[in-house]
Amino acid sequence: MNNFPLSSLLAAGIAMALSAGATADEISKTNLASPSGKIAVDFYLTDKGQPAYRASFAGKPVIGESLLGLDFKSASDMLDDFSIVDVKTRSADSTWEQPWGEEHYIRDHFNEAVIALEEKGPATRKLNLIFRAYDDGLAFRYQVPQQQGLDKVEIMQEATEFNLLGNHSSWWTPALAGEKYEYLTENTPLDQVKLVHTPFTMKDKSGLAIAIHEAALKDYATMNLAGNGTGLKAALVPIHKDSPVKVETSTPFASPWRTVQIAEKETDLITSYLTLNLNEPNQLGDASWIKPGKYVGIWWELHLEKGTWNQGPKHAATTENTKKYIDFAAANGFDGVLVEGWNWGWDGEWFNHGGAAFNFTKPYPDYDVDTLSKYAADKGVYIIGHHETGAETDNYERQLEDAYDFLQKHGMKAVKTGYVESGELLTNGNYHHGQKFVQHAEKVTKVAAAHKVMVVAHETVKDTGERRTYPNLISREVARGQEYDAWAKDGGNPPDHTTIIPFTRLLAGPMDFTPGTFDISLPSRPDNQVNTTLAKQLALYVVIYSPVQMASDLPENYAKYPDAFQFIKDVATDWETTKVLSGEIGEHIAIARQQRDSENWFVGAITDEKARDIAVNLDFLNKDLSYTATIYRDGDKADYRRNPEDYVIETRKVKAGDKVRAQLAAGGGMAISLLADPH
Ligand code: NOJ
Repeated sequence: MNNFPLSSLLAAGIAMALSAGATADEISKTNLASPSGKIAVDFYLTDKGQPAYRASFAGKPVIGESLLGLDFKSASDMLDDFSIVDVKTRSADSTWEQPWGEEHYIRDHFNEAVIALEEKGPATRKLNLIFRAYDDGLAFRYQVPQQQGLDKVEIMQEATEFNLLGNHSSWWTPALAGEKYEYLTENTPLDQVKLVHTPFTMKDKSGLAIAIHEAALKDYATMNLAGNGTGLKAALVPIHKDSPVKVETSTPFASPWRTVQIAEKETDLITSYLTLNLNEPNQLGDASWIKPGKYVGIWWELHLEKGTWNQGPKHAATTENTKKYIDFAAANGFDGVLVEGWNWGWDGEWFNHGGAAFNFTKPYPDYDVDTLSKYAADKGVYIIGHHETGAETDNYERQLEDAYDFLQKHGMKAVKTGYVESGELLTNGNYHHGQKFVQHAEKVTKVAAAHKVMVVAHETVKDTGERRTYPNLISREVARGQEYDAWAKDGGNPPDHTTIIPFTRLLAGPMDFTPGTFDISLPSRPDNQVNTTLAKQLALYVVIYSPVQMASDLPENYAKYPDAFQFIKDVATDWETTKVLSGEIGEHIAIARQQRDSENWFVGAITDEKARDIAVNLDFLNKDLSYTATIYRDGDKADYRRNPEDYVIETRKVKAGDKVRAQLAAGGGMAISLLADPH
């Protein structure tokens, strides 16, 4: 307990109240340190009685004085004039099992202080602040207890600040226009940040990495960050276009956790599971029906405009075409077949406030859902349903029960949802990432769970770790995915995109990026191409974590490269553990993952537009075993612009401690499967 200056008064879990005899100085300042002491947080009240905190890492100040508080609409604000009336501390150290994930077992080890504040009067309203210090970061949340005179509240804003102590290099996507998450990442000094999404990642001059995000976003507005010099302030997304109110709630309530992950090097951010630790444990009970896996589907041909979602001569979701994909999935060991454009609603301007036409139980006439469900089941695969809503959440909610009954009845174990909109608003005028949408997303997840359906959500709200509570919320998009390469009007995703997002967007959780394009030169797009080599496409299956991974290209393109396709067939989607071998934001990254309940490992290494040498040290392998390594690397002449499809596959025996050396081409990568020899 040496880390707590209040130690003479506090034993973990014992309350300290004014009556316990604390001095005024002790009561106005609370220090909290992480279990190893590496991260320390000071909580105190300013001269005006406003809550504030500071934080440091290994003795070095990281966050300077940062104010806290809540700004209400009708009730007076909860900002200042507070005194601390009670501090309760506790330590916790437990390990929990993920039903699926990038890590099988996660340690949840922290020290906590619950600081009870009371206004000095005459109102004497109560506000609690809960701080947690972990060795990989800190977190805090507001908790407003039920109390007289404070029932319904409308939150206009949080006073929450994160005042950094330097003009750090920052990676961000703008939250200004449209609030979409699908922007390329900017890298600027911190003082150029205006309004940005989280996770928001920074690096200071010494290399210390810091990421701000939130956890357990439930019945509350999404938090963006507004920049001011080297300071950042929480900026909650409004509920509706005609109102400045951000959150409508009633006491008692708690805000999501505000999180600051801190690591000596940026690669350690990736294996920090603080966001998951701050979410409630699984509420679904038996999760054995929720299974990671791989899928193919009627998708890429739509984005390449070879087929259409809507009816007509090019309609892609026909019974015949779907059978072709089911055959392909069954022959190659895939679990699911996604079918887009199967249902009524695509024939008008569905993306432009026309989403009310979508019907989630009525297939198009040339799509025989009963026959196909049986055909798929007989072949041991399932169809993945598709619910594009066109951002018409009201229409979707009206059909929700029927829509999920329909999926369940037809053996569709997963659904891809979508909320494409033409502006920043849902068609009912609510903001896409405001409180009502957050409520909607939770409702969909719960209805899906009740029908034993896994959800892969596109254009939904950002991930803040809800998969721990609802493990059927298996993946989401929420960043620029591979689809941008098909549209390619803006050049597609540049080579550094996938070397950035592991350190930014992916800190939030899994992403349905849908890698696997083998026909890199996109013959139907003469002026454009995918900005990677083929080997890099393989590496993305390991680098970009998702428990459901798509092989997104057309079956005929996989047929051209059966030897490279083998990696997609082999790669696992559920992991025992994850190790980040090396990486620098926006330049390169190499990750090794051990298959769940297995001795097999898979490695993915990628680079930006620069070619570079890489040496993968296989010291993570089991020392008692030997392995067959299959190395899928860029060929000597590979280059993402000129020669993307040049790759080499080598197989050799390896053991722990061996090194695999290769040159990653410009825009290139390497994938390795390491299959344990029989033992
Ligand atoms: C956007 C999604 O990201 C994409 O995957 C889907 O095909 C289209 N919307 C249509 O729903």
